[in-house]
Amino acid sequence: MRDQAETLRLKMLKSQGELSRSIAIVSGKGGVGKSNFSTNFAHALLSKGKKVIIVDMDIGMGNIHILLGKTPIFSLKDYLQGTEEIDAVINETEEGLRFISGGSGLDDVLEWSKEVFDRLVLAFEYLQTEYDFILFDMGAGATQRSIELIVAVDEIIVISTTEPTSITDAYSMMKFICIQDPDKTFHLVSNRVSKNDEDNDAVLRLQYAMRKFLNKETTVLGFLPEDPTVHKAVIAQQPFMLLFPNSPISKRMMLIADTFAGTNSGVVSKQGDGFLGKLRYIFTKGRG
Ligand SMILES: Nc1ncnc2c1ncn2[C@@H]1O[C@H](COP(=O)(O)OP(=O)(O)O)[C@@H](O)[C@H]1O
Ligand SMILES: [Mg+2]
Repeated sequence: MRDQAETLRLKMLKSQGELSRSIAIVSGKGGVGKSNFSTNFAHALLSKGKKVIIVDMDIGMGNIHILLGKTPIFSLKDYLQGTEEIDAVINETEEGLRFISGGSGLDDVLEWSKEVFDRLVLAFEYLQTEYDFILFDMGAGATQRSIELIVAVDEIIVISTTEPTSITDAYSMMKFICIQDPDKTFHLVSNRVSKNDEDNDAVLRLQYAMRKFLNKETTVLGFLPEDPTVHKAVIAQQPFMLLFPNSPISKRMMLIADTFAGTNSGVVSKQGDGFLGKLRYIFTKGRG
């Protein structure tokens, strides 16, 4: 019954063109700028009047709340463990950006039981009805669980720098995801591009490799320059989009958000009932 009702509701939302887009922000290797991208991309979408929420999937090592300068009382873990309801773990900044913190405190590791997955599905079901964009900052390390979530989301934004190691790791990551879901939609962003790289060759090579070896089309959302305002903004615990709206990187971020908001996710036609159906399938398969 419940699945039927849900499918029906999703269909209704789709027909009204209101279905939200779930997006995982990923990279091959860490430290390439995912979390800074997530917070600032979210602000760019917010400034276009979209309802946006960031979910920090780096459970126990989250830093979205640090980049936003907010210390939440509860994190995603509190919700998943069943001690708090979803509303209690959703935080809001003064600018109206919502986020769910990954929390910090490695000592208390989350046990991914069936109940935990059920709560995760329930949370996403709720978020889909409330937000235009759900951004998952995937954090470090490609754990089994994070790969499962990545496969479940509608779209993936892959962040890489122009370094060959970052490019090859990004390629491997996408290849891995493609094997599990050949229909996945990938968007590429090149970060920390120097003046010499202005033509953005690196990301075009990545796009070419995806086409040639995996027969997979990807979109290039654009590039973000190497910019000292990123570091300054991190220290100030404010998104650079807010602190330095006229910096080169902020202007580029607005263009990326324009491009992204203008793309069609392709989810509705390709993936049946989309994110929720997939998540449920992935998390319940092999569990009897
Ligand atoms: N475009 C950029 N220009 C300059 N420094 C950057 C840029 N993007 C990221 N950085 C630096 O890289 C660091 C790591 O970024 P972060 O978003 O935490 O990466 P990740 O989430 O992928 O681990 C930031 O603290 C910042 O100092
Ligand atoms: Mg991060």
